Amino acid sequence: MSPVAFSRHAAVAVVTIDNPPVNALGAAVRAGLVAAIAQANADAAIEAVVIAAAGKASIAGADIGEFGKPPVPPLLPDVLDAIERSAKPVVAAIQGAALGGGLEVALACHARVALPAAQLGLPEIRLGLIPGAGGTQRLPRLIGAAKAFAMMLSGDPVLAGRALEWGLLDEVVSSDLLATAIRVAQGLAAEGRRPVTSAAAERLTEADRSAFEAQAKEALRQAGEAPNVPALVEAVRNAFLLPFEQGLAAERALFLALLDDPRAKALRHVFFAERAIARVPGIGPAVTPRPVARAAVIGAGTMGGGIAMCFANAGIPVTLIETAQAPLDNGMNRIAAIYDISVQRGSLTPEARAARLALIKPAVGLAAAAQADIVVEAAFEEMGVKRQIFGELDAVAKPGAILASNTSYLDVPTIAAATKRPQDVLGMHFFSPANVMKLLEVVRPKGVADDAVATAVALGRRLGKVPVVVGNGFGFVGNRMLEQRTRAAERLLVAGALPYEVDRALVDFGFRMGPFAMADLAGNDIGWRSRKARGLKAAVADAICEAGWFGQKTGRGYYLYPQGARAGQRCPEVEALIQRISAEQGVTRRAFTQEEILARLLDPMVNEGARILEEGIAARPGDIDIVWINGYNWPAWRGGPMFWADGVGLGVIAKRLEAQAAESGDAALKPAPLLRRLAAEGKGFASLASGG
Ligand code: 3HC
Repeated sequence: MSPVAFSRHAAVAVVTIDNPPVNALGAAVRAGLVAAIAQANADAAIEAVVIAAAGKASIAGADIGEFGKPPVPPLLPDVLDAIERSAKPVVAAIQGAALGGGLEVALACHARVALPAAQLGLPEIRLGLIPGAGGTQRLPRLIGAAKAFAMMLSGDPVLAGRALEWGLLDEVVSSDLLATAIRVAQGLAAEGRRPVTSAAAERLTEADRSAFEAQAKEALRQAGEAPNVPALVEAVRNAFLLPFEQGLAAERALFLALLDDPRAKALRHVFFAERAIARVPGIGPAVTPRPVARAAVIGAGTMGGGIAMCFANAGIPVTLIETAQAPLDNGMNRIAAIYDISVQRGSLTPEARAARLALIKPAVGLAAAAQADIVVEAAFEEMGVKRQIFGELDAVAKPGAILASNTSYLDVPTIAAATKRPQDVLGMHFFSPANVMKLLEVVRPKGVADDAVATAVALGRRLGKVPVVVGNGFGFVGNRMLEQRTRAAERLLVAGALPYEVDRALVDFGFRMGPFAMADLAGNDIGWRSRKARGLKAAVADAICEAGWFGQKTGRGYYLYPQGARAGQRCPEVEALIQRISAEQGVTRRAFTQEEILARLLDPMVNEGARILEEGIAARPGDIDIVWINGYNWPAWRGGPMFWADGVGLGVIAKRLEAQAAESGDAALKPAPLLRRLAAEGKGFASLASGG
């Protein structure tokens, strides 16, 4: 059955797209639209057409799953051409989101009406693309190039009210959308259709052009290597320079070139991986999350305070609990200071600041957690401390409350065993700064109830986080892989690289900072303490800590930070110390290329990722990618470590790991069985996601 239905309302044809879940414009929809427009034009009893959509989303755009596959006609630009050229006027009725190709369909219509909740946007930029079905040509002609460019550059949708002001919509009605669209269509039939392109001369003024050029200059300055920003500038500029048809053709060529760019492919992988995390194995839609009206956070340190802010920012009342008044006051002051900075920057109003602070209630003693539907413990990272807290919580928390630990490494079942309700205990691992970082690892130990996990996931989304459900195990997904990178970075120093060379390789790859700048920022003593607790050694890292060089907070670490500078400078003493350690270990230092450094840092992470998959700690390779993009600033346009590994080739990585294992004598660097198997079969991790 065609996903496009045709019905008659007096002399108006109503063409309804019904392609769940989001009415993406797949091949069948495109064919259905062309057929419906032809049918309406062939029928003498029809005067006008309305294009509507079933369900809550209007049209979410081109079918992203078709990208990269051989195109199936009719192509979207041809469909829109048929709509625009229709002798009988066509009106778009928009009730939900009209995004990307969905908005481009509406732009090809002769008028647009919408409900107030409708959202209109061209988010292609986030997929590494630009609009490819006339968006860059029709939108500037309708609302002016400056506004159109801003919409396409941010990718953010605008609400119906704003769109009406701008002339993007002709009418906004709070009810009877279809009836209104039919009325508007009848009106156009009586007075003549008005294609968007007819407005060009009015909108594309000199003033608009200079406003657009100023924005374009700034956008290009900030674009870095993103190839779609210059393409977008060029396409929009064409609206001034070229006749409409030529502008369309140029846009299409730019769009198709971007579609094949590896960066856009990576971003498409991220798009689907971000959605796949919602499918948690064994937890279907029948599992209902428990209601969460009020929360408690234990520990008012940097982490606990950040988590409390997450609740307040989402409008959820939260009690922030400490053992004594002084640390509680410190914590509340720190939170207030962070909100103050947002007010100074203009990203928060003073009223909103006051409202958020009012939602955070400071309290001394665990008894204050009694009313909470969820308690997040963010106390000192030590099993004894955690077990004592959970034992006490068991006595005060209300029945059915979720008891979550923010532990980064510790065994969650051991924490749960301190209570008589392990079915309610799980991990909610936030990333620092908790009020900023998007990642939330929801740690699902054996024995926890499915609805408790579903509650943590649903809550994570309410907090604006990206919740990824992971299994229990040292360091879960993110930190477990990070540890491999940290060890690799230390090995590189001893073998011949210097901190700035290692960091530069990762920054050039697209990370915001490398492992040593990161360690200096976080404090080198943190890793030192953890190594000591686990009986581990790292010659360079330990020596740096023994010298008291803990990082930025002490003015020096791997780098020097004179007078509180944030960017570190190379430190001759550290470099001499590294050389001394190499000599002590009998290592003849050698130079490394950036490529070698990258391989040595990233391959062991990928190997650990393979083990994580083997053990079922992550459900899919894409889940690992989402963890690294949202928790560790892995550049999204590189798709995450597992996607990156597939691009390099698992055979290549397996071989490099064998060589590293042989050189270092560390058997842990040998390729994991899963990696070895996939490499032998000539497959990538992606084959696992599709059941290979
Ligand atoms: N193509 C294919 N599948 C899509 C899709 C699209 N454009 N948009 C959403 N989906 C799928 C998702 O993968 C998901 O599938 P799953 O259930 O199997 O995981 C399902 O639809 C539901 O998506 P969400 O979970 O995102 O649903 P929400 O209700 O949270 O959000 C939405 C709905 C706001 C429409 C959101 O899905 C969205 O932003 N979609 C993408 C919009 C977009 O980027 N459009 C531009 C496409 S490129 C284009 O149009 C090129 C053109 O210029 C030629």
